[in-house]
Amino acid sequence: MAIISDNDKSFKTFEGRNPNIKSESIEYDKIFESSIRPKDFENYIGQSELKETLKITLEAARLRERPLDHMLFYGPPGLGKTTIAGVIASQMGVDIKITSAPALERPRDIIGILMSLKGGEILFIDEIHRLNKVAEEILYPAMEDFILDMTTGKSQTAKTLRVPIPKFTLIGATTKAGDLSSPLRDRFGMIHRLEFYSIEELAQVVKRTAKIIDIKITEEGAIAIAKRSRGTPRIANRLVKRVSDFALVKYNGLINDIVANESLDILKIDAFGLDTTDRALLNLIVEKYDGGPVGVETIAAALSEDVRTIEEVSEPYLLQAGLLQRTPRGRKVSPEGYRHLGIKLASEQKTLFD
Ligand SMILES: Nc1ncnc2c1ncn2[C@@H]1O[C@H](COP(=O)(O)OP(=O)(O)OP(=O)(O)O)[C@@H](O)[C@H]1O
Ligand SMILES: [Mg+2]
Repeated sequence: MAIISDNDKSFKTFEGRNPNIKSESIEYDKIFESSIRPKDFENYIGQSELKETLKITLEAARLRERPLDHMLFYGPPGLGKTTIAGVIASQMGVDIKITSAPALERPRDIIGILMSLKGGEILFIDEIHRLNKVAEEILYPAMEDFILDMTTGKSQTAKTLRVPIPKFTLIGATTKAGDLSSPLRDRFGMIHRLEFYSIEELAQVVKRTAKIIDIKITEEGAIAIAKRSRGTPRIANRLVKRVSDFALVKYNGLINDIVANESLDILKIDAFGLDTTDRALLNLIVEKYDGGPVGVETIAAALSEDVRTIEEVSEPYLLQAGLLQRTPRGRKVSPEGYRHLGIKLASEQKTLFD
């Protein structure tokens, strides 16, 4: 797999989330993550609808001897967008060049990559919603007609050269599909949202990772970790690693549900998988804003987080778990959210005194 520039910001986003699951170093984490990243459909757990569609699309491209359609994957961090791009490349037997939008600042960055592509290769652009206008405009004819429009000379004498490039497949990934310009979005033949994983799927991820890092785990142990993984394989993997440390040092190297639950309590990952940032967000809305609604900017400022992290990292899971609600006037903690925090709703308190 050829990687030109792999500046996967997501690592840093997650590193900063919970000091208790901070790993030794980002470098070590990268090695860990790449050693457990599935390389084929069989090991890519869950997302069954996506896998079925992809299998057919890949087979059709092979039969027609044509490159794959451009594809866009979106959804919260850690759900497998980068991983699926790698799986697609290896199933097609083609190289993948990985970059991310912030690395394509100057026109020559994107032109350089496009010119370096060979026929059938995959270009993966992470955080594609952050592509600047100039880079986008270079991409349009490249995606549509496999042409690079290059301007030479200064204003009056400027000439546009149309240079053909080999047929390639662009795979874009983003946590924020809504920020993509519509001309760019329209140029993708396939757009797919990755979903949070079920407990059963996450338990499979956990067992697979435990096997790779050579730690014994029971079914109940795997489920206990899965339940606290926020629907996210990346988090499941991190937790396996941390719980395995506890298991090795304190429990003869076996992860069962007792070991898992005890270690995760120590790591302050609660029964819903919420970490300190998630709980701080819910607590803030309850304690300072009477449960909401309150605007996301206010929440971000009060937590000293940026709005993007709140919207793209914290909120999606809280919304999906039904703990938080989005209203036109801002965010509100749901009755389930109150229950989860162990705080009684005003209405419930009244009935107590009645
Ligand atoms: N379907 C899956 N089956 C097994 N493991 C998975 C799956 N999806 C993701 N993972 C694991 O989770 C980790 C994170 O996945 P990945 O890097 O693909 O997420 P992402 O969606 O690209 O996240 P980001 O938005 O932060 O870039 C991978 O290293 C991989 O080991
Ligand atoms: Mg990624």
